[in-house]
Amino acid sequence: MKGIVLAGGLGTRLRPLTAVTNKHLLPVYDQPMIYYPIQTLVNAGIKEIMIVTGGNSAGDFLKLLGNGKTFGLKHLNYTYQEGEGGIAEALSLAEDFADGEPICIVLGDNIIEGNILRAVRAYRHQGGGAKILLKRVTDPQRFGVPELDGRRVVRIEEKPSAPKSDYAVIGIYMYDNEVFDIIRTLKPSERGELEITDVNNLYIARDEMTWDELEGWWTDAGTFESLLRASNLVAESGANKMEVEDAAQAGTAR
Ligand code: DAU
Repeated sequence: MKGIVLAGGLGTRLRPLTAVTNKHLLPVYDQPMIYYPIQTLVNAGIKEIMIVTGGNSAGDFLKLLGNGKTFGLKHLNYTYQEGEGGIAEALSLAEDFADGEPICIVLGDNIIEGNILRAVRAYRHQGGGAKILLKRVTDPQRFGVPELDGRRVVRIEEKPSAPKSDYAVIGIYMYDNEVFDIIRTLKPSERGELEITDVNNLYIARDEMTWDELEGWWTDAGTFESLLRASNLVAESGANKMEVEDAAQAGTAR
């Protein structure tokens, strides 16, 4: 399984902080934001990783991350998204890198307290299709929101004014290689983006979508409020924690 961190887009909601630099290079407590999603993948035993960047200061990612030595990696792959065509467009740039393998995507502004090793292992056993992770939130209107029928996701709505549940679809997604064909069928949404929610709804329509609930806290960091919240959460309790047992499994995961 290969990992992809999406760190493109223009970060307009954080202007003027993002006027001259990329959102994912901003600090979240004591580390640059991009460190957290990379660590999420590494803790899941994923060692082949691509960073999709874009907008301002793209070259600074190379200066900051190099070949990923800080994370125990031998090599990091990079690509560049022009403009802000959406999460699914950013993902489409990783098709050659994925090279037919299943992929785990983490949005560059998503930070978690724990790890996703169990979900990744469950996805491997699933043998194809897609998996999303959900988390109960108090402000679902800000996110993709699932309508659930027991263990089944019926549909996901992007930033609904009347959410059908109090769950958010967090920015960690697992897909088989079909995802790139699915993205080719998408049309831009009203906000002019290729939406990851449309990708997920197409997997749901094929009856190939599963979900797990994430343990521990989760936050995005793409607004002033959530960036502050992220820093406070990391300062209070730390991020990307691994149980001893999980760490052992990650060491052997392929
Ligand atoms: O954080 C989880 C939420 O992320 C999900 O619940 C939503 O369903 C999903 O659409 C997304 O919502 P946002 O509106 O918060 O996404 P945002 O535009 O802030 O982009 C999140 C990350 O995705 C960003 O940090 C970098 C990457 N991205 C985004 C866009 C629009 C790209 O790499 N390229 C892009 O063009």
